[in-house]
Order: sequence, then structure tokens, then C-alpha cells
Amino acid sequence: MAKIKKAYFCKNCGFEAPKWLGKCPSCGEWNTFAEEIIAKESGPAAASVAGVLPASKPRRVSEIGESDQRRIHLGNAEIDRVLGGGLVPGSLILLGGEPGIGKSTLSLQIALAPNGLKTLYVSGEESAEQIRMRATRLGIRNEECMVYAETLLENIVAQIAEQKPDVVIVDSIQTIYTELLDSSAGSVSQIRECAATLLKYAKSTATSIFIIGHITKDGAIAGPKILEHIVDVVLQFEGDSNNVYRILRGIKNRFGATFEIGVFEMLDDGLRGVDNPSEILLTHYEEPLSGIAVGASADGVRPYLIEVQALVSGAAYGTPQRTATGFDARRMSMLLAVVEKRIGLKMFQKDVFLNFAGGFKVADPGLDLAVVAAVVSSYYDRPVSTGVCCAGEIGLSGEVRPAPRTEQRISEAARLGFKRIIVSGYLAKGKRPKGIEIVQINSIDQLPRALFAE
Ligand code: TYD
Ligand code: MG
Repeated sequence: MAKIKKAYFCKNCGFEAPKWLGKCPSCGEWNTFAEEIIAKESGPAAASVAGVLPASKPRRVSEIGESDQRRIHLGNAEIDRVLGGGLVPGSLILLGGEPGIGKSTLSLQIALAPNGLKTLYVSGEESAEQIRMRATRLGIRNEECMVYAETLLENIVAQIAEQKPDVVIVDSIQTIYTELLDSSAGSVSQIRECAATLLKYAKSTATSIFIIGHITKDGAIAGPKILEHIVDVVLQFEGDSNNVYRILRGIKNRFGATFEIGVFEMLDDGLRGVDNPSEILLTHYEEPLSGIAVGASADGVRPYLIEVQALVSGAAYGTPQRTATGFDARRMSMLLAVVEKRIGLKMFQKDVFLNFAGGFKVADPGLDLAVVAAVVSSYYDRPVSTGVCCAGEIGLSGEVRPAPRTEQRISEAARLGFKRIIVSGYLAKGKRPKGIEIVQINSIDQLPRALFAE
């Protein structure tokens, strides 16, 4: 066994202790101690990792070849887009998501895509046979894809060094461990140590490594969160597991724009990229229904239209219920308070339920106007005129502010055949697409007229 020196540190104040403590004697916080390596002596285990890492030297910035920033296309348009136009060699990517959302499916699809790359899929969760079954289901197209069921980091690094793949996928970081630490796989110190070793390996050999990490519903579990600053790219895979649509969101990207999204549909034979999200997020009703409004959203550079549904009904018991699916509940409460004050609707007596099509989670403030439109329509039980959509952010005084990239939202609405779009009156003058009426309002008390006018 390698000789290493370990100590326990308080995450809150940095207090060092030779053994684990429940309560920190320095700052008095509970449950803040984590094990860390403070000195490594060369032993067989330490050497097996260090031995395969080539040393590098500082270079002049002008001497660093441009080719270092060459991008590899993974053969999947949605993933390439979220990565900012392909994968940068030597990058470490964290793919996070709730259990069962499809992280293993997505990453195996990356490994199996016919992209001419040599890929190594390391699984600490499933056996090689299980992966083979999944690969058969997805349709094997990359003969260069190797599968390795292993959880010991030292063995994984040794195999990566031997096989020299272009892309490595580690599924998942919570299941792998290093012998240097006594703590169990999935603990904060194991996750950090394993990720740091993989990072060193990725940088020194220009191998791209995807690390899969589970996060819980509220994202609270420390696990992958602590890796966000170490890795180059953080991708989050989200969606409602009862629904077939999934969104891959770029949260951090050292090599491209963040807030780029990829949209997928989970089918029997894996995930399929959705080129035109608006088509799946809009329903064509035979009769206009009340409580439904369409918002023009722009998540990433790609605008899309999405349907919002609201149900406003008399509150039977004391405190009214407020339920929002896919939308921030606090933002909904704020919008309802503004509606009450500025439009004069008696929201305090009403239960309000809010829902976005396709189980989508939206965080775009440009959808405020559509949310209020759906609420107003349900309150009056009056359908929004056909072919009308909205894009605008609402302030606390009820003022309607321009949503970011409103031009693109208007163009998308026009492209999909909408007749009228309601936007902010404060929108700067610019080029306007033809074929769509643009109604500008400064305050939400002007919204009902704009919504119901024929
Ligand atoms: P999985 O990739 O195992 O999720 P994670 O790794 O994030 O925990 O995917 C789990 C779900 O995906 C599972 O409920 C079955 C479904 N699925 C399909 O619908 N189609 C498929 O082709 C595959 C492989 C999985
Ligand atoms: Mg999995």
C-alpha cells in the first residue's frame, strides 16, 4: 500500500484535525469535516497514476499551436451545438442529471456515434453485458468503441493509458474510487481526488473525458457541484422522467457560449435530437381554449415557441394554492401579485396552477408576459385570440421590459405563422420581419386588450 498522509479539514473554516469530528471545535458547525490527502509518498498505487502522466513544460503563448484548439465533431448535432461547435481535445466535461433521466443512454450514444473516434466507455454501474444489451438497443455503429466495467481509478487510468482513446466516458464519478483514500466511493474527498486525477490526465494527453454525475431533485447533494469549478464544461441533462422530452443545457463552457440548449426525445432506440423544438411544444387545438397562451422564448441562441397553461379557480379553503410545474414558484407569486395590483384581478381568492408544455423547465424571464396572459385568459375564461403570442419581462411595477433577443423571438413567431406578437413598448427600433403584427405595450394593464382584440 502507498504511504500517504491524510487529515480531516473543516469545509467551513479550514480547521485541521487528525480524525473525523462531528462538530468543528473552531467554528462550531456540524458535519463539515472531509478527508483529504496532504502528502503522497511514492508507493505502487501513487506511482501507477503518476507514472502514466507525461510531464509538460511552460511554453510561449505564441508557440502554442492553433491546432490545440481544433474541434472534434461527435456526430450528434445537438451535443456539438451545446459544446459550442464540437469537442475541444483535452477537455473535461461534467454531465449531470437526476437518476433515470438518460445520462448513460446519452453518453453511450456519444461513444457509439459513427464519428471515427476511438472511445472508451467506463462503467462503474453496469456490467459489460448490460452495456452490450443497451448498445444493441441503440444500434452499434462505432466498432472503435471499447467498454470497461471497473470502479478502481488506478485501473481505469492504466487502461486509458494503454488503449489511448480519443474520448473517455466515466459513468459515474460517484461509483469510482482511489485506493489512496479510505473513504467510500461517492464521498466528497473521493469525488474530488478522482476528478483531479482525470483532469491531469486529460490535460497532459489531450484526451477528452466526460464525467457523469448524479444530482438529486433539488441539486443539493454536494457530489458533482464541487466539481463545477474544476471541469471545463458543465452540461446538465434535465426533463421530466414521465415525459419523453429532455433538454441538455450548457451551464459552464470554457470554450464557447453557455446557455446553449440541445433538445432530445427519448425513444425506444435511444435519444433523438429535435431540430425544431417549437413543433413539439405547440398543440393545435380545434377550438380555442381559455387559459392557454404562447410565449416566444430564446434559450441559448435558438428561439422557440412554447405553450403555457394556467388554471385559475376559486379557492375553496382559506389559503389559496399555487402550483407551478417547470416555472419558478416564487416568480409566479410575484407575477400574480403584480396582476392583482396592476390589472385589479382578485388573485387572493384564487387557486392558480401553471404548467409548461412537454414538461419543460423554463428559466427565461421573457416568458413572464405569456404566463400572465395564460392567467388572465383563465381568470376571465376567455381564450386568447388565435395566432397571438407574447415575449416580454415584467417588473414589479407592472412595466413590460424587452426580453433579451426579442428580434429573434419575433422572427421565429413569424416563421411559425403567428399573426400578432405582444412585446415591450421600450423595445429599441430595429429591423422587423414582415407578416406579423407587432403590438407594443408599456404596462401589463394594457395586456388584456392586446390579447383579446380580434
Ligand atoms: P439511463 O440512461 O439509464 O439514465 P441515467 O443514466 O441518467 O440514470 O436511462 C434510463 C431510462 O431511459 C430508462 O427508464 C429507460 C429509458 N430508455 C428509453 O426509453 N429508450 C432507450 O433506448 C434506452 C436505452 C433507455
Ligand atoms: Mg446511468
